Amino acid sequence: MKRVHLTINGLKKEFVVARDRRLLELLREDLRLTGAKQSCDRKGQCGACTVIVDGKATRSCLARVATLDGAEIITVEGLGTPENPHFVQEAFVLAGAIQCGFCTPGMIMTAKALLDRNPTPGEADIREAFKRQLCRCTGYRKIVEAVHLAGAFLRAERRPEDLKPDLSRGLIGVSMIRPSAYAKACGSAQFTADIPLQEAVEIAVVRSPHNSALIEGIDFAAALKMPGVLGVMTARDIAGTNRVRAVVPDQPVLCRRRIRVMGDPVAVVAAQSTALALAAAEKVRVQYKPLPEVKDPFAAMQPGAPIVHDDRVDTNVFLDQPLKRGDVDRAFAEADVVVEADFETQIVHQAPLEPEHCIAFFEDEDQDEPKLVVTGRSINIHPHADQLQEALGYDNLVVREAFSGGQFGIKLTITSEALTAAAALHFKRPVRYLPSLKESMQMTPKRHPFHMKTALAARRDGTLLGLKWDAVVENGAYTFYGSTVCNRALWMLTGAYHIPNLAARVRLVYTNNIWGSAARGAGPPQANFALESLIGMLAEKLGLDPLEIRRKNSLKIGQPLSTGKIVDEWFNDGCLDALAPFYRKALQEAATAGRGGRIRRGVGIGAAAFGIGSINDISNAEVELMPDDGVTVYGSMADPGEGTDTMVVQLAATFMGVAPDKVRLCLRDSELTPFSGSAAGSRQTFMSGGAVELACQKLKAAMAAAGARTAAELAAAGKPLRYLGTKQLPKSAPLDPTTGQGGNFDTWVHGVQMAEVAVDTQSGEVTVLRMTAVEDPGTIVNPQAVEGQIEGGVDMGIGMALREIYEHGKTTDWKTFKFPTIRTMPEIRIKTLETPRKRGPLGAAGVGEFQMVATLPAVTAAIHNACGRWITALPATPERVLAALKE
Ligand code: FES
Repeated sequence: MKRVHLTINGLKKEFVVARDRRLLELLREDLRLTGAKQSCDRKGQCGACTVIVDGKATRSCLARVATLDGAEIITVEGLGTPENPHFVQEAFVLAGAIQCGFCTPGMIMTAKALLDRNPTPGEADIREAFKRQLCRCTGYRKIVEAVHLAGAFLRAERRPEDLKPDLSRGLIGVSMIRPSAYAKACGSAQFTADIPLQEAVEIAVVRSPHNSALIEGIDFAAALKMPGVLGVMTARDIAGTNRVRAVVPDQPVLCRRRIRVMGDPVAVVAAQSTALALAAAEKVRVQYKPLPEVKDPFAAMQPGAPIVHDDRVDTNVFLDQPLKRGDVDRAFAEADVVVEADFETQIVHQAPLEPEHCIAFFEDEDQDEPKLVVTGRSINIHPHADQLQEALGYDNLVVREAFSGGQFGIKLTITSEALTAAAALHFKRPVRYLPSLKESMQMTPKRHPFHMKTALAARRDGTLLGLKWDAVVENGAYTFYGSTVCNRALWMLTGAYHIPNLAARVRLVYTNNIWGSAARGAGPPQANFALESLIGMLAEKLGLDPLEIRRKNSLKIGQPLSTGKIVDEWFNDGCLDALAPFYRKALQEAATAGRGGRIRRGVGIGAAAFGIGSINDISNAEVELMPDDGVTVYGSMADPGEGTDTMVVQLAATFMGVAPDKVRLCLRDSELTPFSGSAAGSRQTFMSGGAVELACQKLKAAMAAAGARTAAELAAAGKPLRYLGTKQLPKSAPLDPTTGQGGNFDTWVHGVQMAEVAVDTQSGEVTVLRMTAVEDPGTIVNPQAVEGQIEGGVDMGIGMALREIYEHGKTTDWKTFKFPTIRTMPEIRIKTLETPRKRGPLGAAGVGEFQMVATLPAVTAAIHNACGRWITALPATPERVLAALKE
């Protein structure tokens, strides 16, 4: 042990610490200063834990307290409070640099340290200072802007009060400050691991090292003898179905007999701390009988292949959905030109910075069946409560959403919640589960890899005649939303275009691999990568302009989508027109830069139309008139960083004609809210914003009918104060099992993106220099939030296009995942069009996932433009680019 004296946020304190005690542990665990976060298993890869030590930005997960005697430490809590923020915190809020907020305290401390030593940093200084800080939400652009803004505040060139949005002339189209922004900037927003949970036990999970095996015995006697251990739980201790379901209940909460993928949970150890639980988990002896495994979806479809779910079905093909439209054989026979290619996309981790933390505890413990509260970062709290009740056999269970460190689709499904809740039920104690990043990666669904065999037929003038698309999608070991992802790819198969003849098929195949589910865009990014690349290939073969061929084939009002739905609004042409001048200029610049040397410049475009929500979508919201004549909005509208909270406030305040600070939100508790659906499918503005509009209309109608202007008058008239609005899309038929014809979406976000790249023909390295994003998401409620979604989505799309890949067992941290950093951040230029949608609240549609769909093909088209090679398998790594150049 060592005695040290530290000054922390101005207070001198003495500590006696173990020699390897890290500063992050001291701050979070001993002092409850939870502003500093942990994402990367204390490897110094994420920077979320950054504090200032003796004037230097320091990753507190690496700093040993024993070496810091006499140091002066400042944490984010030491800068300012939401009521009285420091100017750097203010700059991050005003620049819109805060989305989920998990990276924010570390970013702010790095910015402060930089500005303390350099009040006028240039972009290169900022890139250097932030090179070890990760952010998944923002694409870093607004963080750079925030640092510049903070510098301007510091130099007294600008004042925060001059930049506060003017809310006096309406709230739509105004970048109102998000309700949670200051709490996130000041470290007071509580993420799951930040919530103090008295008398909690902490758990560790024994996970299978095999991809396919039978459990023949579990011996935990030695674990029970370990210090601080409360007990061990196995599948026998779970009262319910012990199965988690989304589409089908095919994943055990704890495996009783069969292991289907490495990392499957076998037992849970509860102890006084995570460290003790982990040590005891090491002592659990599990006897496995390894079984043959299948890791390739094509092998999994062969006769005699090991069957992954042999207790339920006799095939690995979970879904085999065809789609037929028109006469594709005739179209290909009559075509002047056909292009064919096979495309592959990789498994990608959605990569939220926050690990899969979860807590569970009982409320109302004196009741016969006390209420079990499960808190994590679910974006689907009502279905998750239902699923947990069913899996665990316990009805009085609610799900709450804490502040959420990103999710990008991962939290549409249950991850750590079932084990945490099961442990609370079994051990009858509050439970905290703080899995590592490595374990979080093992327990979460990923983006499905698609293998697509494709062909596109056209007339000589570029008119598209037919598309053949045969996709084999690796499901992995469990299904969750795999079939939905496949259907979404079919719904959006024809992208932004009219393609009259289609023959498509998608097969979703179980393997002994990590499983897929929702991931930003969920299906269309993969399918559209193939379609847009084919269109680029076609343009090349016909000698047509890539922009013109897209315009020529743009879907028109009255024409059908892939599944037969006739559209009554479509805004692709406006996006193509808006991009045209940028495209021409970029081509010129690339040509001027030269194409003959080692570094070759290229320009590529990718277009898309992305359906909002889902077919037969529904959202509920309630609005209650409060005694002060403000309103409270109730609805399960998760906000893992996109800005749902500000959207709801801006819409509700507009509809009710009240000031935004008179709108309160109750959005995070399955017990207190009506079901609004998930924060997926870019649907919250269109669906839940629509539900808020309807609820406000009902409240206003009741007030008008009663002649009431206040809550007191409405109550005196005997009228309820709380009204439900339900937005329900017209009933659509599901996809026909033989033709794939049926319903489709009700509105779309449209856009086209342009990538400008430099390809190093010797190393194969591709650098995205600039992205231009033209998008039409309908009426924009909060421009800064929309820009943030576009910038973050573009960054994520570039990551998937060029480097990100998840390999189960090999990808264990942010380095092995190749997380995009500020060093890979391109310039991003945004042009938004705002064509009001017929069915959106105030004409809004939504944005959030679209960028993934258009970015991938834009980047690979730019690589082609630079060096004449189509990359058809993602990511476009230097090795793949070099191989393509050698072909
Ligand atoms: Fe940076 Fe979410 S705001 S990780």
